[in-house]
Amino acid sequence: MKILILPDADTAADRVAGLIADRLRQAPATVLGLATGGTMEAVYARLIAAHRAGTLSFAKARSFNLDEYVGVAPDHPCSYWRYMREQLFDHVDMAPGAALLPRGDAADPAAEAAGYEAAIAAAGGIGLQLLGLGANGHIGFNEPTSSLASLTRIKTLTPSTRAANARFFDRPEDVPRMAITMGIGTILNADEVLLLAYGEGKAAATAAMIEGPLSASCPASALQMHRKAVVVLDEAAASRLALRDYFDCVHPGGREAEI
Ligand code: GLP
Repeated sequence: MKILILPDADTAADRVAGLIADRLRQAPATVLGLATGGTMEAVYARLIAAHRAGTLSFAKARSFNLDEYVGVAPDHPCSYWRYMREQLFDHVDMAPGAALLPRGDAADPAAEAAGYEAAIAAAGGIGLQLLGLGANGHIGFNEPTSSLASLTRIKTLTPSTRAANARFFDRPEDVPRMAITMGIGTILNADEVLLLAYGEGKAAATAAMIEGPLSASCPASALQMHRKAVVVLDEAAASRLALRDYFDCVHPGGREAEI
């Protein structure tokens, strides 16, 4: 894992947006894996700004989002499809049909999940997978005890995840109990993984992900098995890392190594 520690959330989001933009400029037809959540709003705002400035195009890109709530239709105000339209898709030049999310309102969610995994494979797999981090160590909606080999499937959300996401819904009881999510195996199949976490609330999960044992108790620890995982943190999220001095020595100030 490459650990880049930036001074604050703004500079961390700058870095992640910059890495995504660099990748799209080098390989415009990249298949992106996209994430939702509060963390990504600043990243998408920066990508939109670059597009509006004429320095970034999504015209040849395709994307697959990590997850969607079961029972939630794309036009539902709290759907991840709606989030993606508002935060990114409506403001950039992705081709019609190039962006996919699982259909939360599919009549057969299990078949939808299997079909989604097949669609990712048919697209040649994910080139760059963007990830946030749950306070409980989840990635996508792969909650603790998820199989580290899992593929896209239905997961029941933990009470803590439902509570964390209640802020996006009118009432806490409106938060769905299940989601369709890419599996940990799906995520590990991506060519490159880019995880962003900021804030003290992510510090414990960040330490478990990077320094803890490889364990389904912290699904993000599976990224220890990935050959090309980049983790971008702010100071607060990095505050519980025991090997902090080492990460500073390898990437001082979050900069790439000068070889
Ligand atoms: C959500 C999403 C994840 C996201 C994580 C963190 O429940 N399923 O993909 O990365 O939890 O969310 P936030 O960025 O709002 O803290």
